[in-house]
Amino acid sequence: MMNDSSSSEIRVPIEELVKELFAARQVSKNYGPSHELTKESIKKLLLKLESVSSSQPEITIGIIGNEIAFEKEPLYELSKYLRDIIVHLKELKIERISFLRGTKERELLSFLDIINMSAEAVEKSGGVKHLAESLGMETIVFSRLAAGSSMSAEGETDSNFLARQNIQEVIQFLEKTSDDIQQNRRIDAQLAYLLINRIISNLLQNKEPLLILSSLKSHDEYTFLHSLNVAILTLVQAESLGIQGTHLTEIGVAALLHDSGKLVLSGDIIRKKEKLLPDEFGRIRQHPLDGAKILFDSPEINPLSALVSFEHHIGYNAEGYPQRLYCGKPNLVSMMVSIADYYDALRSKRAYHDEMAPEKVYEEITKVAGSQLHPELVENFFGVLGVYPPGTLVELDDKSVGLVIKESVLDIRRPQVELLYAADGQKVKIPYVVNLLEKEKDIDRYKWTIVKSLAVTEKIDLPDKYHSP
Ligand SMILES: [Fe+2]
Ligand SMILES: [Fe+2]
Repeated sequence: MMNDSSSSEIRVPIEELVKELFAARQVSKNYGPSHELTKESIKKLLLKLESVSSSQPEITIGIIGNEIAFEKEPLYELSKYLRDIIVHLKELKIERISFLRGTKERELLSFLDIINMSAEAVEKSGGVKHLAESLGMETIVFSRLAAGSSMSAEGETDSNFLARQNIQEVIQFLEKTSDDIQQNRRIDAQLAYLLINRIISNLLQNKEPLLILSSLKSHDEYTFLHSLNVAILTLVQAESLGIQGTHLTEIGVAALLHDSGKLVLSGDIIRKKEKLLPDEFGRIRQHPLDGAKILFDSPEINPLSALVSFEHHIGYNAEGYPQRLYCGKPNLVSMMVSIADYYDALRSKRAYHDEMAPEKVYEEITKVAGSQLHPELVENFFGVLGVYPPGTLVELDDKSVGLVIKESVLDIRRPQVELLYAADGQKVKIPYVVNLLEKEKDIDRYKWTIVKSLAVTEKIDLPDKYHSP
């Protein structure tokens, strides 16, 4: 989520400032610090800095991943033109540059001198921070972050780290819950609520890292990862409908525990490839009721969880299972969970089917919207996730390959894609993001269009930040 200062009003002048900054760097590099052209570009830069500083006491520009960023917001478009400087700043171990009010011309000159130095020269001189201090730079501050840390407490890299941590914690919780249920012990409700609240705060801050990681996960630990995915996919739906606070937490817990009844089944039945025997089939169909009983007997867990467990296979047209004695449609939360459940089941590799491509999943789910699944909720679901959700590997019409990192609210088939392999099949040295909504100049044609999604295989070398925990 953006904060006020990184809203679109400030974004344009910041982008202009960054452009001026690196243009001045180029001029001073080409002509030297005392050349008239350098002086002129420094004057322009100073004016820009003063005008932006009038509303911002501190301007922090940094590097997040491979992008130039203002505070915690990556400036994707601009970064495309600044690849060289981004690489150079990283070599100089500069991750963050803060401009405080009142920068003087001589400070800017020193700043340009430093960023024009080679990495070796900077290293020999004791690093950028030391250089800046020895040159008396007071209003321009370089900082480098400690290993394992990131641009800011709320920065993108931290979100990735938190997402990984969240996933691990939830998987451990589900393993423990499985034992608890099998040993007739109580489910640790407090922990369930705590973990769901962590997931929610992670999603509210920046939902993509969790979506990407859950989409790229390995498919081995079927029930646990499935439960986690259903929780994430239900929470993003609920949040998009404006549900907040404790209601959102209750919904998350209900989604996480929706298959509790499966935790008592033996893994052999769940993973069985052959046709199920009538007895085994009956036991699987028993899981909504078994789960409801377990959850209803857990006094610390809101009864919504028991209801959702009971209803999540009943369906919008109420033709699913189990049969009920009461009429009417299932609860809306149960129907959100049903969509998440159906979606994850098709996307994941199961004992009895391979994983399905997201565009095919979209087709399959749209077919049952209005019968098995709630039509408006399905529409909302794809509005939030897109046809190619974050974490999908896609091939574009110029043959380049990339990873979807953000859905588009304007067009469910035109997300933002981080390019990993160029049209010639070569790995992109520094991956960058393209927005598929972007059109060619002067013609009404999109620059890139997704041709198809691809399965993630070992042949595709994903950047570290996308590796599953
Ligand atoms: Fe289920
Ligand atoms: Fe399920």
